[in-house]
Amino acid sequence: MEARCPHQWTHLASEGVVDGEEIICMTHFWRFSTLGEGCKLNVKGRRDPKGDIEVFPCYEKEGKIWIALEGEDNSE
Ligand code: FES
Repeated sequence: MEARCPHQWTHLASEGVVDGEEIICMTHFWRFSTLGEGCKLNVKGRRDPKGDIEVFPCYEKEGKIWIALEGEDNSE
C-alpha cells in the first residue's frame, strides 16, 4: 500500500502497526484493510468510514516480496 496515511500524511512504516489483517496509523488511529478501505473505530466498536489508501498487488517469491505498480503484472 501507499506509504503515507491519507489523513495527515504520517509515514506508516514508522508510525503504523499491524493489527490482524489491518494496519493502524498511530497518529489518529485510522485503520486500513488489505483492500485499502479506511475506517476508525469509535469507543463502542462502530467502524466509521475514513479515507482510503491505494494498495498494490504483491506476492512472495524466493523469500522476497514483489509488488506490481500501475499496469504491471510480474506474478509469472
Ligand atoms: S495521520 Fe494517520 S490517522 Fe491521522
